[in-house]
Amino acid sequence: EHGERSRLIEAHKAAAEFYASLLSEAEAAPGRQFLSERGFERVDAEHFGVGYAPAEWDRLARHLLARGFSANELIKGGLAREGRRGPVDRFRGRLVWPIRDITSEVIGFGARKLLDSDDGPKYLNTPDSPIYKKSSVLYGIDLAKREISKRSQAVVVEGYTDVMACHLAGVPTAVATCGTSFGEEHIKVLRRLLLDQAEFRGEVVFTFDGDSAGQKAALRAFADEQKFVTQTFVAVQPDGLDPCDLRVKQGDGAVRDLIASREPLFAFAIRSVISRYELTSNEGRLAALDAAAPLVAGIKDEALRDRYAVDLDRWLGFLDEQLVRRRVHEVSGRSS
Ligand code: CTP
Ligand code: MN
Ligand code: MN
Ligand code: MN
Ligand code: MN
Repeated sequence: EHGERSRLIEAHKAAAEFYASLLSEAEAAPGRQFLSERGFERVDAEHFGVGYAPAEWDRLARHLLARGFSANELIKGGLAREGRRGPVDRFRGRLVWPIRDITSEVIGFGARKLLDSDDGPKYLNTPDSPIYKKSSVLYGIDLAKREISKRSQAVVVEGYTDVMACHLAGVPTAVATCGTSFGEEHIKVLRRLLLDQAEFRGEVVFTFDGDSAGQKAALRAFADEQKFVTQTFVAVQPDGLDPCDLRVKQGDGAVRDLIASREPLFAFAIRSVISRYELTSNEGRLAALDAAAPLVAGIKDEALRDRYAVDLDRWLGFLDEQLVRRRVHEVSGRSS
């Protein structure tokens, strides 16, 4: 109900201010070190509202209870869990990123641990609550929305630090999912920003780092189903660096170049399949053809399908264009 929503948003606003104010305290030194190693300065942290959640078990809870919020409100919003002697902070000893909705209200947090030896997963996120739905949340959407519409392009990266790096490097259209893979609800959010006279016209560019097998597989599934395709692009750095690491190692221009080097999802999906085969033997090339032909055959637009048959032949090292076309044709005949 409306009253509850606004109470939870008030509590998150106060929590974000509390965490941000603690980032300059002595105890937050490891957090500041993390940020500086990632190429972020103090003003950058301030711009994105990055904060520090102290290590004790109830610093935030006590702060918010003293300001009139109830234990129940803290627990409902995911800021705390129920403990034997009162609410226990969810995020402790971590760097925290406030997650804002499209109207810039803080609705949750992403929190990274600072020492490998610390308890828990590397990242902890707010659980689903009356104001936070991870299936539709996009970190950075408040900062990116205007540029996404203006440039007709959205860039989807994997992490909070990647969003920061992109924005600072001159890619202000970057957003990230929070602790979940990109899905239908996220598409809806971007689609609304990319509408042009009731048509979805923009580009959505996905980036991945080197250890994102699951995300890549999810996108191939999208390619298979063709729910969301011809405007979808993928940009992957050859060494598998994510935008944040790329910016630290090679600077702002390299991040912009990465996005500029995007390739269409179909090309990416087909090439990822081929890359699992050894193309030095005829056996390997024919096996790769068998694996990739169904993807090409699945492309509904005939002209586009034919172009990709020609590309596939080239990616197979100029195997035999007629053979490739024939194989694609056979496979499409079988599936329709
Ligand atoms: N993530 C998560 N839970 C995890 C690991 C990752 O929610 N246990 C999400 C976070 O949003 C994170 C993003 O996935 O920002 C990217 O994760 P990963 O690539 O593993 O982060 P790294 O780039 O390796 O880590 P970092 O840059 O923080 O060192
Ligand atoms: Mn990763
Ligand atoms: Mn990683
Ligand atoms: Mn990464
Ligand atoms: Mn990273």
